[in-house]
Amino acid sequence: MERHVAPLTGPAGSGPATAAALQRAAASASPALAASLQEADGLKAWLGTGDDALSAAPPPPKPSRGSPSPSNGAKTAPREVPASVVAAAAAVGQALRNAPQTPFLAMAARASSPPRTSTGSTAPAGGESVWLAAPSGVSAQSRLIVDLPDAEFTYIERPWSHFVTRWAAIDVELEEAFGEEAQFSVIDLGSCCGFFSLQAAAGYPQAFVIGVEGSVGVGNGTTGVEGTQEQIIETKAIQTHLKWVQKLGMTNCLVAPDVWDYHKVCSLAAIGQPICDVMFLLSVVHHVDNVSAEQYEADGLGRVEGTVSLMAKLLQLSPRHFVELPDKPWLDHIYAAFGTARAFLDAAAKMSGRQWSFVGPLCVSEWYGRREVWLLEEVGIRRPEAAGLRALSRPGLEALFPRVLPSPASTSTFSGTFPSPPGTGGRAVGAAAPALSAAGYKTGGRPSLTPQEELGAALLAAPTALIAAHLQLRDAMVSAETLLREATTTASMR
Ligand SMILES: C[S@@+](CC[C@H](N)C(=O)[O-])C[C@H]1O[C@@H](n2cnc3c(N)ncnc32)[C@H](O)[C@@H]1O
Repeated sequence: MERHVAPLTGPAGSGPATAAALQRAAASASPALAASLQEADGLKAWLGTGDDALSAAPPPPKPSRGSPSPSNGAKTAPREVPASVVAAAAAVGQALRNAPQTPFLAMAARASSPPRTSTGSTAPAGGESVWLAAPSGVSAQSRLIVDLPDAEFTYIERPWSHFVTRWAAIDVELEEAFGEEAQFSVIDLGSCCGFFSLQAAAGYPQAFVIGVEGSVGVGNGTTGVEGTQEQIIETKAIQTHLKWVQKLGMTNCLVAPDVWDYHKVCSLAAIGQPICDVMFLLSVVHHVDNVSAEQYEADGLGRVEGTVSLMAKLLQLSPRHFVELPDKPWLDHIYAAFGTARAFLDAAAKMSGRQWSFVGPLCVSEWYGRREVWLLEEVGIRRPEAAGLRALSRPGLEALFPRVLPSPASTSTFSGTFPSPPGTGGRAVGAAAPALSAAGYKTGGRPSLTPQEELGAALLAAPTALIAAHLQLRDAMVSAETLLREATTTASMR
């Protein structure tokens, strides 16, 4: 099979020292070469400082929003929500406030009433959220682990039932995949006030959950479009999340104030290893897509191509994803190109280069149109031999974020000092949760990272051209190894 390898471009492609670094980076994805490299001088040598090859092209300091552009002239794409989306969100908000008689508002008015669940497959109507995959006789309400106050956790009046049914649907799948005592990691992208992160961390005390919240799009304002990290931390959603982490004495639930965009996702995918075991991508992909439009263009991708590539790379970050996409008018270009959210996900799954099983829809909610929650699970992940494809350890995962909260010091101060609140469901939560024991899941301190995890952190700090070159070289190495294997087989048959 022929494989196209694009030529190296940009600063990373020039200079023998950088070329050497790229070759070593490529080798990291090739077991044979990585082994011989480690014998020689070790991956850490090139990831370190001093006169190693990478220092020939030092990464710029991580820009914080609102800070001046890096002085090396590298283009930093502004994170801008298109005016059309901002206007649409404002118009919808206005309509909500001004038109209490609309059917949509009638749905919102039921926000705090108990969720109506269904064990059948009847389609939802009038803003209901229906858990289609509910086991017989199980109510969504019964799956709640922590009884969180809806007034603190809903946003733009999204009905509370939508939170309860979506969590119930996710929880049943998590329990089936992992059991309650398993260790696994979750990234909840666009975690908003932390409803899903808190439920997951409480329900699975051995798991480790990071909510990524950037205050972009809809739900937690738009501070992240221009604001600094400090300003994102001050947003209502992050403060609510942290308040409840503290209140519940949790040590396995963190928040990363961070705006993800296409380049960030590409960097993470370039690590070449799942960064977590589960991702929640609930009503957020369209917002990440919006802030990535200029990056697609800069990379020579059309809008549709860019969005499919974004989704494909998100899929590469984990073997399991709970995905909820919005209906039109969001992702208009995608609906125009693919017709349905499912067809779009199929295209992204194909582009990811991995095989996925689609489970669902687990849950369907009426919210500005129809939103379905699907579980996409990598085929074969439950087989024992798939254990080799491990996600990053907790320290490795934390190292990927510029900042995670609460800091270890404040976590240990608060841990266990708050009683579990009433209504914490049948499972252990907060102070009652057993201490996290396995090496990779300990809190406090920063244990040394594996070479792959250090590679991940280094890639995130690297210029885009270096990341692109890393990917190209990795592909080239895979092709070369395949060719070599074919040649060896052919030779041995002669
Ligand atoms: C519509 S809310 C969805 C909240 C939650 N996932 C749910 O389904 O209920 C979208 C959330 O994602 C956050 N968000 C949007 N784009 C983001 C990005 N590029 N990076 C990080 N967070 C983002 C928003 O600030 C907001 O809190």
